[in-house]
Amino acid sequence: MASDSVACLLNPGLICTFVNGILLLYHYRYVKYRLYKNDLELYTPFAIIQRRNLDYKDIMSINLPLKIDNLFCNPVYSLLMPTFLNEVNKISDRYIEEAKKNNQPLIDERNKLLGKDLKDFGIVHHSKFMGNDPELKEFKAFIKDTSYTILQEQGYDLSGHKLYFKDLWVQEFPKAGGGEHWPHVHESSHISGFYFLKCSSKTSMPVFHDPRTAKWITELPMKKGSLQYAYNRFEYPVLPGTFVFFNSYLTHQYVLDAGIEPFRFVHFNVQCFRPYEENV
Ligand SMILES: [Fe+2]
Repeated sequence: MASDSVACLLNPGLICTFVNGILLLYHYRYVKYRLYKNDLELYTPFAIIQRRNLDYKDIMSINLPLKIDNLFCNPVYSLLMPTFLNEVNKISDRYIEEAKKNNQPLIDERNKLLGKDLKDFGIVHHSKFMGNDPELKEFKAFIKDTSYTILQEQGYDLSGHKLYFKDLWVQEFPKAGGGEHWPHVHESSHISGFYFLKCSSKTSMPVFHDPRTAKWITELPMKKGSLQYAYNRFEYPVLPGTFVFFNSYLTHQYVLDAGIEPFRFVHFNVQCFRPYEENV
């Protein structure tokens, strides 16, 4: 009996679940800690003098160095979390298979029209909504919790608000190449993001575009090789198991994929809303 209990505790599945649980808790703590460390602080002379508890008359004897106030920042959050990788990949297989089947008539029609077999060139295989899949319970909970934490830490008052998945789907870029996404935003959403399931240095990657529209019309030439305030877009290389979260107003795209290696990721859009209360 005792040996059965020991055998049960040494069960690889159980050990794996336990280790994953510890990793999950660690990552929750890590996300919250990192967000907390990113709190904004103003560096205007006024704010500095106020922090030093000085009076207006004291400023005549003080010279302050040039400081930067990063106003209206546009954070992009990323987290390497392979804990979900195998499970979500496995669940996604059947969704991708269905998406490929659904795209076949379109591929056949195009082949007929063009008189050439282009296979799935340029056709991204988008799955249906996965938000109701009970097997994704933990995965969805993590995304929702992290989205909530991000919005709260950004300074939004979420009391009385709820979060729900407006979109949650998996997509795989075409094996024949030519997969891409044009720049876009997701309407009526607050936090958007990705979880990368299959990718490499030879596959596509997300690109984020500058939301400062007034800057576009006064643009100057940019220096090469540095990531400074002048840049109007950032390419964002990723690894399998990487989560990326960002505010949904941020325009993003995916660069052209050559179809050399598989490229698959989950895309999600989370909406934050206050449930309607009937006023009777
Ligand atoms: Fe998108």
